[in-house]
Amino acid sequence: MSEHLLSEQPLNVENLEVHYGAISAVKGISLTVAPGEIVAIIGANGAGKSSTLRAIAGAVPHTGRVSIGATDITQMPSEQIVCRGLSLVPEGRGIFGNLTVLENLLLGAWTNRKEAPENLEKVYNLLPRLRERQRQVAGTLSGGEQQMLAVGRALMSRSKILLLDEPSMGLAPKLVLEIFSILRDINSAGVSLLVVEQNATMALRLAQRAFLLELGSITLSGTGTELLENPRIRGAYLGH
Ligand SMILES: Nc1ncnc2c1ncn2[C@@H]1O[C@H](COP(=O)(O)OP(=O)(O)O)[C@@H](O)[C@H]1O
Ligand SMILES: [Mg+2]
Repeated sequence: MSEHLLSEQPLNVENLEVHYGAISAVKGISLTVAPGEIVAIIGANGAGKSSTLRAIAGAVPHTGRVSIGATDITQMPSEQIVCRGLSLVPEGRGIFGNLTVLENLLLGAWTNRKEAPENLEKVYNLLPRLRERQRQVAGTLSGGEQQMLAVGRALMSRSKILLLDEPSMGLAPKLVLEIFSILRDINSAGVSLLVVEQNATMALRLAQRAFLLELGSITLSGTGTELLENPRIRGAYLGH
């Protein structure tokens, strides 16, 4: 199985385009995520952030080239991309509300059932709240706990690259801090992160490198700190 070989490889996105009929949502963007790196994409509502992540994960039709190391994944079905170590934690979380926490996590283990008990233990160690709540029906979890479950489920497939779509959306400020702290822990455990956020301040503090997406194009890039200090970003995206 080539999964482990690929896992230490960079994610490369070249000239990615997404169209919905006549609407051009992503207009030829290129970026890389190095092994172990945290990269953020910030931008306003409708900028094309979700479309970018969905295209990389193989969930919407797209053109351009997406690769993990030397392996071209551009036209692979999303299930095969998950087997290559890349998972999307979708906006709105996509968990099964009528199943328990444990059942949701086990669904995430379809790529390698044999290792499921071992992976479950790792996920519970990273996200102890999920261990406490494992018999609870997922629909009754708080917003923050549901977000933790969505992240935990993606990790059950042993992903080495996680794409996170607005992990802080709809969460109270204290929970936002908790989720971002969890993302740091997951990254320290060896997982690369590509994070999309409207909460630009938190995302830029978390990320080593970041991109500003406007109307489907990358219009600024730099380190997280550079973008935090950029006057245009401060004026339009940080609210001060
Ligand atoms: N399934 C779809 N069908 C048609 N248009 C879509 C669809 N999904 C997104 N769009 C449009 O594509 C653009 C980018 O959307 P999206 O990627 O969701 O942006 P963001 O995540 O930055 O808010 C928007 O104009 C949106 O209305
Ligand atoms: Mg979105």
